[in-house]
Amino acid sequence: MNGKQPQSVLSRREYKPEIIIFPTAEEVDAHVAEQIISQIQVKSNSVFTFPTGSTPEGMYKLLVEAHKTSHISFRNIVIFNLDEYWPIRRGHPSSYYWYMKHHFINHIDVQLTNWHIADGEASDPSEEAEKFEKLLLQNDVDVAILGVGPGTTCHIGFNEKGSAVDSRTRYNTLDRQTRIANAKYFSNPDEIPQGAITQGVADILRAKRIFLIAKGESKAWGINRIINGAVGPDAPASFLRYHHAVTFILDKEAANLLH
Ligand code: PGA
Repeated sequence: MNGKQPQSVLSRREYKPEIIIFPTAEEVDAHVAEQIISQIQVKSNSVFTFPTGSTPEGMYKLLVEAHKTSHISFRNIVIFNLDEYWPIRRGHPSSYYWYMKHHFINHIDVQLTNWHIADGEASDPSEEAEKFEKLLLQNDVDVAILGVGPGTTCHIGFNEKGSAVDSRTRYNTLDRQTRIANAKYFSNPDEIPQGAITQGVADILRAKRIFLIAKGESKAWGINRIINGAVGPDAPASFLRYHHAVTFILDKEAANLLH
């Protein structure tokens, strides 16, 4: 344990993140999956923050394959998801609860009691956020895997523009660009919720090691902004530069505008 509070008093020292660029998206998936498997081999009860979205689908597929073919066990790991829409039914095919079950949880040997995702069905999202964070803070997160928002959003989790470096798990309204990008995952695009419960920036920065994955052209502007622009709330992912152990794992397209 490293204390019950997120490290809101960060040194504010900026670090140069490690950047790894692969020619293809498949190589990105393979590299991230390898990092996770190595972590579990070193510490079987590792605590992870895991993302959802289209970016990590390949990673989950490879982890499931590794479980089936190489008998990698996830039995003792602990998973905290980054975020969940609110309100949303757990059984809704676009909920992140359903995503995790479908892409990962149903196919591996993780203990369900070790998997934590905010409840999109909770009657009060603030209470639910508080409950989730209480549990999160009782754990030291070994590795956080993150995606990044599309276009100019530069979000991590659903920490949209304006999110502070010391933001905590909370209900947050989705950015317009995020709603447009994610509406495609809903059979009726108008059904996309207005908001979500998300780990805060400070919660994410508590992880000992952070990997951010980005694939495709739609991430190129944001990746360059996050790595080369000023650190600040207009690009919440830029706060990752306050963490000493962050690696950006990119495909060629996502790295296209990096200079
Ligand atoms: P995506 O979403 O993987 O579907 O692009 C990532 C995110 O919004 O963080």
